[in-house]
Amino acid sequence: MSVDRYAVFGHPIRHSQSPFIHRCFAEQTGQTLTYEAIDVPAENFGRALADFLAHSGRGLNCTVPLKELAFQKVEQLTERARFSKAVNTIIVQQDGTLSGDNTDGVGLVTDLVSNHQVNLHNARVLILGAGGAARGIIGPVMAQSPVSLYIANRTVSKAKKLALEFMQTGSITGCGFDDLAGLQFDIILNATSASLSGQLPPLPDNLLHSASCCYDLAYANTDTAFVKWAKAQGAAHCLDGLGMLVEQAAEAFYQWRQIRPDTQSVIAKLEAKRKTG
Ligand code: ATR
Repeated sequence: MSVDRYAVFGHPIRHSQSPFIHRCFAEQTGQTLTYEAIDVPAENFGRALADFLAHSGRGLNCTVPLKELAFQKVEQLTERARFSKAVNTIIVQQDGTLSGDNTDGVGLVTDLVSNHQVNLHNARVLILGAGGAARGIIGPVMAQSPVSLYIANRTVSKAKKLALEFMQTGSITGCGFDDLAGLQFDIILNATSASLSGQLPPLPDNLLHSASCCYDLAYANTDTAFVKWAKAQGAAHCLDGLGMLVEQAAEAFYQWRQIRPDTQSVIAKLEAKRKTG
């Protein structure tokens, strides 16, 4: 019998840490499986998926630019995937049908709450950005019952639209960066793609107090522009998305294998890896 195959599809994919993470999980839990990174541009997604399924594919992660395509392709969706309109995890069911999940938001919340003891309950939360990354975390963030959520975006209409879409989940306001002046937050989550190009949204001073937490969903080998800003503003917690990456992977692994891997040891390995470049 052939070994169960898993993979991450994306473009570019060369620097993906997912194979390392899932191989650690498999070794740790004694699961026999393979996990590889496959470069798949958007135009090849359908063909690559069919080929993968025909060759012992049991589950997939999808990353940029494929999450919205994966959302369209699957036959069943979890509620959190339906709300986020994006799929980062595909589960091949026994009957061959495809289920789509989105584990990004729960990965973020687990990293904040379990790994860093940052409580979202009753917190004043600000999300920067209103693209796919922001959409993926709003549901799981609101499920923690923050007292309020602001979504601030360069294109204000997108922030307002997102706020409207999720309004049934609690107090949510969509606005521009200028509208943040005079407000204060317990937790700021950077879901813009600005970090990736070393840029920072134009944020007013005094958004934080001494116990505030800043979290960049992106991560890099050195501090992102947002983490640098958070440190300069004196935030108590200045975090990037490394823990979220491992926690979203652990949730995907659980969906595939019904076993929850230990994440702490893998986060520690990745921290050590990035220190040595
Ligand atoms: P992703 O899937 O990573 O969220 P996306 O859907 O293209 O990618 O969204 C990118 C987000 O980053 C958007 O909110 C974008 O703002 P606009 O909606 O105004 O385009 C935001 N963004 C990108 N570069 C930015 C910058 N330099 N400053 C502020 N916001 C930026």
